[in-house]
Amino acid sequence: MGAEHAVASPFTLSSTVRLRNGAQMPRLGFGVFQSTNAKASTAHALAMGYRIHARLQAYRLGALLYAIVRDSDFQRVRLTAGRISADHNEEEVCAAVKKFNEAMPNQGNGKVWLTTKVMGNEHGTEQTRKAVDESVAIAAKYGLKWDLFLLHDPTAGKQKRLEAWKVLIEKRDAGVLQSIGVSNFGVEHLKQIKEAGLETPEVNQIELHPFAQQKPIVEYCQQEGIVVEAYCPILRGQRFDDPTLQKLAKKHDVSVPQILIRWSLQKGFVPLPKSDTPGRIQANADLENFELDASDMQDLDALDEGAKGAISWNPVDRP
Ligand SMILES: NC(=O)c1ccc[n+]([C@@H]2O[C@H](COP(=O)([O-])OP(=O)(O)OC[C@H]3O[C@@H](n4cnc5c(N)ncnc54)[C@H](OP(=O)(O)O)[C@@H]3O)[C@@H](O)[C@H]2O)c1
Repeated sequence: MGAEHAVASPFTLSSTVRLRNGAQMPRLGFGVFQSTNAKASTAHALAMGYRIHARLQAYRLGALLYAIVRDSDFQRVRLTAGRISADHNEEEVCAAVKKFNEAMPNQGNGKVWLTTKVMGNEHGTEQTRKAVDESVAIAAKYGLKWDLFLLHDPTAGKQKRLEAWKVLIEKRDAGVLQSIGVSNFGVEHLKQIKEAGLETPEVNQIELHPFAQQKPIVEYCQQEGIVVEAYCPILRGQRFDDPTLQKLAKKHDVSVPQILIRWSLQKGFVPLPKSDTPGRIQANADLENFELDASDMQDLDALDEGAKGAISWNPVDRP
């Protein structure tokens, strides 16, 4: 990321990162992918002031938000901002957000950062226009606009991918969309956008942690001013027994996931950790009282295993 995207350290839950267009996006997300207790976990995270990120097609977060709005005592909930990624539950999400905004009328604008995605099977000029128009119409029905609109993955192939990206630019230029970006895009996918004479994305969401640092993608994104979001930032609990992670956790008297999330923030990424465990949800955001020094960062940087270190589908090299 360029200087304007540098991480603010010290970090707080209200920290934001500035996108190229000036929008301020929350620095820490909260994931519920594969959550078995998403309602309680999300409510707990909201109460702590987390920004929310979720794969809605899998978890029906729209319905979940309704339940939280219904059950919460808003006098006690400290929700200054939210971050919601909607894949297929846009109607429910927008209705929930509208209701939420009405319940907290004095919090000012931007308390919920709304994101949605166009999946690879909807890429291509006509399909993407249709998908965007449908999503925009749903949000408009509730008086809302999407803050961030992403292409979910690069799997549709070059032609449809570029067509889909052109549609996001066209819709953004028409004032229909705000910020636009991609997910799981590798350097080749990003270069193809540039070679086609098109503007680069504001955001790229990829698997990213010390064991899979995706250095070429990160370097390219930094060069182009693309903010990098890190999914699987704590490796789904794997590799926690690594000696370097153990050593640093002991040195700073914190947990291994706190080391991993702090590394991600200090690298300038936007990590999206998931947990269903209240104590962990709290601990994963309790990052304000320690900082990794240069030698700690070097130790963590040395853990990179390239693509072999990835633990999810990581489709960044798809043609
Ligand atoms: N764009 C994409 O293609 C894509 C793909 C994958 C994920 N994502 C996004 O990224 C988010 C995070 O990724 P992820 O859920 O795959 O992996 P993750 O956040 O790295 O790991 C989540 C796992 O770590 C455990 N955990 C959390 N905090 C812990 C702690 N303090 N101590 C020990 N274990 C802890 C959780 O268990 P408990 O829940 O039991 O606490 C859960 O099993 C997802 O929710 C999703 O929003 C995007």
